[in-house]
Amino acid sequence: MFAEIEPRAVDPIMAMMAAFRADPRELKVDLIVGVYKDDAGRVPVMRAVKGAEAVTLKTEDTKTYVGIAGDAELNERTPRMLLGDGHPALAAGRIGAVQTVGGSGALRVACDLIASTKPGATIWVSSPTWANHVPVARAAGLTIREYPYFRASDRGLDFDGMLACLTNDVAPGDVVLLHACCHNPTGVDLKPAQWEEITQVIADRGLFPFVDCAYQGLGHGLEEDVAGLRHLAAHVPEMLIASSYSKNFGIYRERTGGLTVLAETPDQLKPVMAQLNATIRANYSMPPNHGARIVAEVFADDALHADWEAELTEVRERIAQMRRELRAKLEERQVTADLSFVTDQVGMFSYTGFTPEQVQMVREEYGIYMASDGRINVAALCSTNIDHVADGFAAALR
Ligand code: LMR
Repeated sequence: MFAEIEPRAVDPIMAMMAAFRADPRELKVDLIVGVYKDDAGRVPVMRAVKGAEAVTLKTEDTKTYVGIAGDAELNERTPRMLLGDGHPALAAGRIGAVQTVGGSGALRVACDLIASTKPGATIWVSSPTWANHVPVARAAGLTIREYPYFRASDRGLDFDGMLACLTNDVAPGDVVLLHACCHNPTGVDLKPAQWEEITQVIADRGLFPFVDCAYQGLGHGLEEDVAGLRHLAAHVPEMLIASSYSKNFGIYRERTGGLTVLAETPDQLKPVMAQLNATIRANYSMPPNHGARIVAEVFADDALHADWEAELTEVRERIAQMRRELRAKLEERQVTADLSFVTDQVGMFSYTGFTPEQVQMVREEYGIYMASDGRINVAALCSTNIDHVADGFAAALR
């Protein structure tokens, strides 16, 4: 059987990580995967996470199964964090949530749910989108199409192209995958007025919104980052939201995420949740518990919660600071290209717009590694590597 398997391309982010590890050079910089690093280059465990783990260690008295939907306390918190306590859809009992194996697990069970309801359904993804969106949707059997998003000329948003596509090309009932904030890989987000415009088109034309929210709190703030999502959720009958605690709690390896469902009525929610449970059971049976307990403990304890928010603010501010410093250092090096994109883009990632040759040149000559599409993890810049990175980027941009 195995002889039949054709060689296939590895995920571009994972492939680059392997190449970085294999590079024997002392001076090399890893700007590849989306993890937050502090100024010492460490991927820290957040203080509140350590605190919640200490509580769990003391209070946990069994390792028995939790259940298909995961931690009930977490499932109660996830939609409230995304939509806000006072959201009308919550008050109307139209919202349900399950814990998933990270944000990717949420994406997969959501795509499976869509495929089981509407075999071969079309999902529209932004051009470009996160390297794993297409493989996940394809594995679930969905048909994938792209809507315009990134405009290379100014490294900004092609909003007219996006809107025209949603208005003319996407068919009613098609799924539209949107990024709530900190767009991965581009760092280019919709402005509030643009969220309003696309909400109108989605609602008027009966498109099905599916939002990936993996970076809440890493852009402008916990509330600000989901303002567009909240607006959308208030104006559509149905919606799916995949969310992740990997980045905003720094618990990447614990694989903790959620899938939130918005149904048109409370009665319609019940069969959806039953189908979702069946999908999860057939997929991986039940999600792991440790990360979910950490998040639930942090939410339940006022002091831990306040400390988490404070540390998340520090994280967000350090990322914004690194953007400003990178721009300033490129300007110092007489780069004449328009550099406003470095500080305009939001969140962990910046899309440099580098060609494959430029990506290769900075890797080979400077040991600077980024995703092969030119995406860099701004959160991995720090005081000891930023000058070297600026040297490499200035050479590429000249
Ligand atoms: C990323 O985009 O770097 C992260 O979401 C990690 C991953 O799984 O690709």
